[in-house]
Amino acid sequence: MLRTIAAFDRIGEENAFAVLARANALVAQGRDIINLGIGQPDFRTPDFIVEAAVKALRDGHHGYTPANGIPPLREAVAADLAKRFKVEVSPDSVMIMPGGKPTMFMSILMFGEPGAEIIYPNPGFPIYESVIRFSGATPVPIPLYESAGFSFSAAEVLDKITPRTRLIIINSPANPTGGVVPRAELDRLVAGLEHHPQVAVMSDEIYGEILYDGAEHVSLLGYPSLRDRLILLDGWSKTYAMTGWRMGYGVWPEALFAAAERLAINCHSCVNAAAQFAGIAALTGPREPVARMVAAFAERREFIVEALNGLPGFRCVRPGGAFYTFPNVTGTGLDARALQGRLLDGAGVATIAGTSFGAFGEGYLRFSYANSREAIAEAIERIRQILEDPRRQDKVA
Ligand SMILES: Cc1ncc(COP(=O)(O)O)c(C=O)c1O
Repeated sequence: MLRTIAAFDRIGEENAFAVLARANALVAQGRDIINLGIGQPDFRTPDFIVEAAVKALRDGHHGYTPANGIPPLREAVAADLAKRFKVEVSPDSVMIMPGGKPTMFMSILMFGEPGAEIIYPNPGFPIYESVIRFSGATPVPIPLYESAGFSFSAAEVLDKITPRTRLIIINSPANPTGGVVPRAELDRLVAGLEHHPQVAVMSDEIYGEILYDGAEHVSLLGYPSLRDRLILLDGWSKTYAMTGWRMGYGVWPEALFAAAERLAINCHSCVNAAAQFAGIAALTGPREPVARMVAAFAERREFIVEALNGLPGFRCVRPGGAFYTFPNVTGTGLDARALQGRLLDGAGVATIAGTSFGAFGEGYLRFSYANSREAIAEAIERIRQILEDPRRQDKVA
């Protein structure tokens, strides 16, 4: 019998990948599945970004790069942050990573161990709670409420800090709710954190450029009192439709940078060289493709929120960012997992149960609107039929 570490009994998963596998299995059986479960843009990476990677390969960029990324890319990230948030960021504090996730994994592992507490949003990106548990630390949820547009109350977060708290995870705009935390709430949070200088913050801002109705993304980078303990997570996956390229970055405080670099050297050495050149093109090239994608999401958001609110038993607040809606489905009389299963198997529509994002997600389903308007309309119609005639539940869509 092989003996692996006990921590594997505690590590979780991302249900979105399980739903995708199930949806693909149904497609293989000949079913017509509409996927509103997946968390990635349904757009291609803009051509000029692809061309930059092709050129890099042709130019012979085939070897290792520095573990923290090529200097022009780190400079481009620092310039992009300066442009977006009017903050000064040294390229030396930027660590290029294979996607957004490794920055989260590393920062949680740096602070999590038995006896430590890590505060995180719930419902939230499932990997936060999973890695916190894996590390042995105690996960302390910040419940997010529909009534507050899935933002949080700074007072409630600060209330959860104990002498054992090591790290607070913030995610705005948020997965799975699309909630955006207003500036005033962040101001209050940061003012309170000034009394807890031993607590680090990891701010996951990967949806920071996908915003609607003039909603403002406030980066925690803009608060000087946090800078020596703030880890910023961002990346190319969502903004530039580059999930498969595995390109992300962290901005690390000086005290932690060397540890992050050492973890990278122990783990992946460096990020794919050609992809890094694509990353430079994305940050320095034309913005129209991003604007077009966000405009398309905005239009679909209008459509899906109204359509979901018209379904029996559904109630849906209007998300301020990302490309998810998180309707309350308690009126259907089914729990989130049961409804997820019924919609996939009965209606051929893939969604994600709110409980996949933590216990406070019960009573909700996540819909991604990273799909065409026609597909969304068809999905809503199929769901309506299932909900209005429960006898249809076992029929093949
Ligand atoms: C909130 C949040 N953070 C991080 C990530 C991970 O991004 P990446 O695919 O770049 O690792 C995701 C992906 O869905 C996400 O939703």
